[in-house]
Amino acid sequence: MDDTKAYIRQVYGKIADGQQTSCCSNNTASAAASCCPTGEQVVVTEADLGLGCGMPLQFAALQEGETVVDLGAGPGFDCFNAAEQAGPDGRVLGIDMTPEMIDRARNTAAEHGYGNVEFRLGEIEHLPVADNSADVVISNCVINLASDKAQVFREVFRVLKPGGRLAIADIVLQQPLPRELAQSIEAWAGCLAGAVLVDDYLSTIRNAGLCDVRVASQHDATELLTQCGGSDPLLQAAVSAAGECGESSLEGLALSIIVCGRKPG
Ligand SMILES: C[S@@+](CC[C@H](N)C(=O)[O-])C[C@H]1O[C@@H](n2cnc3c(N)ncnc32)[C@H](O)[C@@H]1O
Repeated sequence: MDDTKAYIRQVYGKIADGQQTSCCSNNTASAAASCCPTGEQVVVTEADLGLGCGMPLQFAALQEGETVVDLGAGPGFDCFNAAEQAGPDGRVLGIDMTPEMIDRARNTAAEHGYGNVEFRLGEIEHLPVADNSADVVISNCVINLASDKAQVFREVFRVLKPGGRLAIADIVLQQPLPRELAQSIEAWAGCLAGAVLVDDYLSTIRNAGLCDVRVASQHDATELLTQCGGSDPLLQAAVSAAGECGESSLEGLALSIIVCGRKPG
């Protein structure tokens, strides 16, 4: 599994440095709308690499002055949007394990004068964040990449304040993947092979101690995976790995969902 993590870090490092493009790397609003339907206002175009799979902030009910933690912040797309909503008295912490992503996000924050956003290098399985310190935890298309999802959600529970909220966009499965596809490292980095069945995903969150866990929105991810696969090397790899494994279509395999919940308190 360390090999998988190293591979993921390498792939996303290249994307951060512009050596590898993602589906929306031309940063046009139309591409973002058609290919990666985040639906969020793009407040900082350099932070929009089209790597998300939903709109967690639309479900976070973020208030001015709140503290937000973004798991796997990447170039900071959701962090900058959160910073606008949380205002100058709010605070946003973006966590990512890829140094090139952190460098890119920090440079963007400095260039645009975001004093209320901080990017920290670290793993979402071991968050560099204090206990009971976050009003809201968000994440966008990242937890599928983690092999130990139970550990990630235990960390979410630890860092949330009592009563704090969770809003996560992620890819989950509707049926198990064929073994060969599930074992493809390219499909893992492409946000497919690390995904788990939706019911298992929800149980893992509940078992970590979070309550009111529900799917707030869901869409078939086939379009996201195949349409983006046309130009996104990661998703292309996932799609072609599916083909090599005898899956002529990804139809019905995966969902992009938004999951909400809260820490009791
Ligand atoms: C698909 S991108 C999503 C980036 C961002 N959330 C967005 O929507 O633009 C996944 C990001 O998660 C990071 N990542 C993957 N696994 C991680 C882990 N275990 N701990 C911390 N970051 C991780 C990668 O480095 C990458 O930047």
